[in-house]
Amino acid sequence: MERGHESCHTTLTNFSDFDRCCMKRALALAWRGIGKTSPNPMVGAVIARDGRIIGEGWHRRYGGKHAEAEALGAGPAAGGTLYCTLEPCCFTAPDKHQPPCAELVIKSGIRRAVIAGIDPFGRVNGAGIAMLREAGIVVETGLCAEAEAELNRGYHTMQRQGRPFVHLKIAQSLDGRIAAPEGASTKVAAGDRWITDTAARKIVHRMRAEYDAVLVGRGTVLADDPELTVRLVRGQNPLRVILDSRLGLSDGAKVLGLPDREKTVVVCDQAAPDRIAKLRGMGVEVICLPGLPLGAVLDALGARGVRSVLVEGGSRIFSSFLREGLWDRITVFIAPIILGDGVSAVSGLGIGTIRDALRLGNVSFRRVGDQLLFEGNHVYGNC
Ligand SMILES: NC(=O)c1ccc[n+]([C@@H]2O[C@H](COP(=O)([O-])OP(=O)(O)OC[C@H]3O[C@@H](n4cnc5c(N)ncnc54)[C@H](OP(=O)(O)O)[C@@H]3O)[C@@H](O)[C@H]2O)c1
Repeated sequence: MERGHESCHTTLTNFSDFDRCCMKRALALAWRGIGKTSPNPMVGAVIARDGRIIGEGWHRRYGGKHAEAEALGAGPAAGGTLYCTLEPCCFTAPDKHQPPCAELVIKSGIRRAVIAGIDPFGRVNGAGIAMLREAGIVVETGLCAEAEAELNRGYHTMQRQGRPFVHLKIAQSLDGRIAAPEGASTKVAAGDRWITDTAARKIVHRMRAEYDAVLVGRGTVLADDPELTVRLVRGQNPLRVILDSRLGLSDGAKVLGLPDREKTVVVCDQAAPDRIAKLRGMGVEVICLPGLPLGAVLDALGARGVRSVLVEGGSRIFSSFLREGLWDRITVFIAPIILGDGVSAVSGLGIGTIRDALRLGNVSFRRVGDQLLFEGNHVYGNC
């Protein structure tokens, strides 16, 4: 914690099994806000007294009640313990919809607060915890902090790096091809529409539902004509972002004709005003960014409240994000097929030696049907 108040540093407490159980419950409640709280974080809260949970709450949607207020609304909490996945907020602002939670907690007579993560937002960042402590509440932090950091990875990345969390998702053959020579990844093997099977695609749809936006390049829309919606699982459709510098997409592309087409954003470099007007007339949002730099694309999405972006291809887009170091996580589904030729997952990174390779950290592998699901994170300082 570089900027936070000294007093919010992780307290090395021996948390009890009951503490762990309550915080896990608060985290589970927080996850219920998935896809609905951005640009705010997801937060869950539990109130317990005498070894029993007496109140629960979570931040259900952006602008709605905060988790602590919901949990405290369940009944008298005096003498109890608050378990909260994120430090309570402690400020008012003209554009803030809810009152400061730290004040509500103090007024409620809560005696102890257990907090998983520190809120990195500049106006909180330890000040909420300091306020509780000044009021005589015992505050302990750091229980399940890693789970909270994962829950709100988009929010934390935005606060710390000034851009949304960027997750590249690649489906490839054993030899690193994302499409057959004849183009679309949808025509990769006779009789098969996709490189990966339904189980893998269900995971991808779940990922889409967890992200504020999905992003692809013009080449992918031309080759695959994807919808980029959530269909195989229940969940909200993310914003669909297409990078298309000269607005060359055909009007018939599926992403331009979906019922919720206000959730489709085409980002261009420069284009004829009549083409922009046509797309806007179809209900699609168009953003013009001279030169179309990826940093500016992420800034524009961040300004719209996007905290996390799932990048779904294709090759040139994956390569650009990697080349510019604008990524946080990669998930690769590796299918048991070999193509020999075709479209490489990434190329042109300008890496000459193994020593200079992009090396991922925190890696994990698991089996999904016949496929291998590989995941790894950006190790900062190693690119
Ligand atoms: N298996 C998979 O996981 C997977 C996923 C997606 C796609 N695919 C396959 O990948 C292939 C498409 O890949 P692709 O490389 O041809 O196209 P792409 O990466 O989808 O799109 C590249 C295009 O996006 C535009 N663009 C705008 N800004 C860019 C930037 N900063 N960096 C890179 N591109 C930018 C450029 O077109 P303009 O200059 O016209 O703007 C560029 O030509 C298809 O065969 C598709 O089937 C496979």
